Amino acid sequence: MKVYIIGAGPGDPELITVKGARLIAECPVILYTGSLVPTEVLRTARDDAKILDSSGMTLDEIMDVLREAHAAGHDVARVHTGDPSIFGSTAEQIRRMSDAGIEYEIIPGVSSFVAAAAVLGKELTLPELSQTVIVSRVEGRTPMPEGEKLADLARHGSTMVLFLSITLLKKIEDELIPVLGDDCPIAVVHKATMPDQKIVRGTLATIREQVRAEGLNSQSMIIVGRVLTSTDFADSRLYATDFTHRFRRKKVIAKLEEE
Ligand SMILES: C[S@@+](CC[C@H](N)C(=O)[O-])C[C@H]1O[C@@H](n2cnc3c(N)ncnc32)[C@H](O)[C@@H]1O
Repeated sequence: MKVYIIGAGPGDPELITVKGARLIAECPVILYTGSLVPTEVLRTARDDAKILDSSGMTLDEIMDVLREAHAAGHDVARVHTGDPSIFGSTAEQIRRMSDAGIEYEIIPGVSSFVAAAAVLGKELTLPELSQTVIVSRVEGRTPMPEGEKLADLARHGSTMVLFLSITLLKKIEDELIPVLGDDCPIAVVHKATMPDQKIVRGTLATIREQVRAEGLNSQSMIIVGRVLTSTDFADSRLYATDFTHRFRRKKVIAKLEEE
């Protein structure tokens, strides 16, 4: 018996992995985060599968389901939104499973931050502009560890993706403008890849009013950084004619020999 912790992807049901979809179709017990996981990904479940929504459960109740399945020898598809490793609240379940001797395996998924980059049509890492992506959130009820306050992170000048923070845009404005400037580009993607997706593009100075006008206050990804609007970034070295690597060395050598 195993618990498969499966990333269901950001919303579009086609964005689950082949392996995740197969396990959902095979497992006799499915425990899914109903608040965020698109129910369409459960369509292929067995007719006799026991399907439970964990969104109203406590951690103890979730563990009761897993222990019961374990005792019965039933595999469980534990379906989480996006990728389970990012703000997934999976670690506490894993800790308890380990204590209870329940075997588990994590099946990664498409996180909403990469889905947001995709629907924006952007690359988050650009040569000589930003080669780092900071995945974080704004401090709300969950306190941020020392050194991870938004202004501290912003000092790197890296691209930042902020989860769980759409109601905290005033804090983003207050902490980021002094470091990044009020013209720094920012985008908000609400329900990325879902039919009612909305995109708002602006600057640190304008975004709060724009988001308010659109009435967005949940399930949104915030991306901050100059990669969002830059057009004059350097080409990457990967495809440069004078740059060889093991896949192209032979071709370049052949070309030099020709010359
Ligand atoms: C509890 S976290 C789960 C994140 C998830 N593990 C992931 O990798 O995307 C929920 C937050 O993820 C973001 N989120 C999840 N799905 C989203 C989507 N389709 N579009 C935009 N943001 C999303 C929002 O910031 C939301 O508040």
